[in-house]
Amino acid sequence: MTFDIACMKGVDTPFYYYDMELLRSTLAEINDCIAGTPVHVHYAIKANGNPGILKAVHEAGLGADCVSGGEISAALEAGFPATSVFYAGVGKTDEEIKLGIEAGIGCFNVESVEELEVISSIGAEMGKKVPVALRVNPNIDAHTHEYITTGLEENKFGIDLRRLDDAVDKAVKSPNIDLVGLHFHIGSQITINEPFAILCARINDLTAHFREKGIEFKILNVGGGLGIDYNDPEANPIPDFKGYFNTLLSGLKLTEGQEIHCELGRAVVAQCGSLISKVLYVKEGVGRKFLILDAGMNDLLRPALYGAHHKIEVVSPEDAGSMDVYDVVGPVCESSDVFGKDEKIPTVRRGDMIALRSAGAYGESMASEYNMRKLPGCLFVG
Ligand code: LLP
Repeated sequence: MTFDIACMKGVDTPFYYYDMELLRSTLAEINDCIAGTPVHVHYAIKANGNPGILKAVHEAGLGADCVSGGEISAALEAGFPATSVFYAGVGKTDEEIKLGIEAGIGCFNVESVEELEVISSIGAEMGKKVPVALRVNPNIDAHTHEYITTGLEENKFGIDLRRLDDAVDKAVKSPNIDLVGLHFHIGSQITINEPFAILCARINDLTAHFREKGIEFKILNVGGGLGIDYNDPEANPIPDFKGYFNTLLSGLKLTEGQEIHCELGRAVVAQCGSLISKVLYVKEGVGRKFLILDAGMNDLLRPALYGAHHKIEVVSPEDAGSMDVYDVVGPVCESSDVFGKDEKIPTVRRGDMIALRSAGAYGESMASEYNMRKLPGCLFVG
């Protein structure tokens, strides 16, 4: 990627660099793919809730997928219409539920019969009928990292298939619940379409089962999970949305008026963001060189938490002339504060600028002040 180095002058490192042109092209590609189809995309705010990002996503006309009262408020502040805001999460508090009902959000994705009962009674207190989709745990292996797979029986997410009939029955009978749909999410960073195709087949079985009982769902929400290319962001800056949406459109058997909803996070914002950091020291170790950055795991947690790898590039100087091999690490007092081992990159010196690529999703949003460090800043370019 060509970074606009002039724009970076005077900006304190580390900071997130957002290529807004790439974000807008990504959003345009999504809109091209879904034009004229019954697909609705809600952006998963947890991937990146930076107001500048939310503004661009809202301008492109996507809805919002939220997992906390804070995210609901951020979505509304950014201008997302309340009806396009969906709210998921296994542990919604009474206050968050009230906030969502008060605002008139489009759907609560409900994760248990216990939660359904609480929403129903809060709805009754407020004199409201609450739109609800039941989140089903479809027991599908998404073949992704164990921390980001969610659709297996052993996960805490969703209603077990064996309890679903009972949950649907309760929802249908509750005067304060408007059962509008079924909701699924099988995991994140899924780079093949097969798990989504399997999910579609599972959904068809379920909708057929409930149709026999006279129950139709307006909304089939397949969740998020479409992955991106962390190894080669240059070659694949925009994910294969066509392949993904075609899998959904050809896989789901829809009835008249039925809508497909999905909640993409990473696929929308990951590639437009890079974490820019300065080289503090090049330290000679025993048999290896450590490249010590001023960005650490508190700025970008994914490598330490999931063993994820973000491509490491030298931003400036652009041409060092020679290559070297480094262990690239942060300054935080944890052995897991490592961005890459044996990284072959152009030779660097103190003060040079480094980019950790594909960091637009789950980068800034997972940053913390651990070690009493400052939160990373941000720069929007383009
Ligand atoms: N819908 C639900 C119900 C979810 O739980 C998630 C993500 C999404 C949508 C959006 O998924 P995406 O399209 O971004 O894959 N921090 C981890 C990822 C955690 C994902 C949690 N749920 C990471 O950095 O890889």
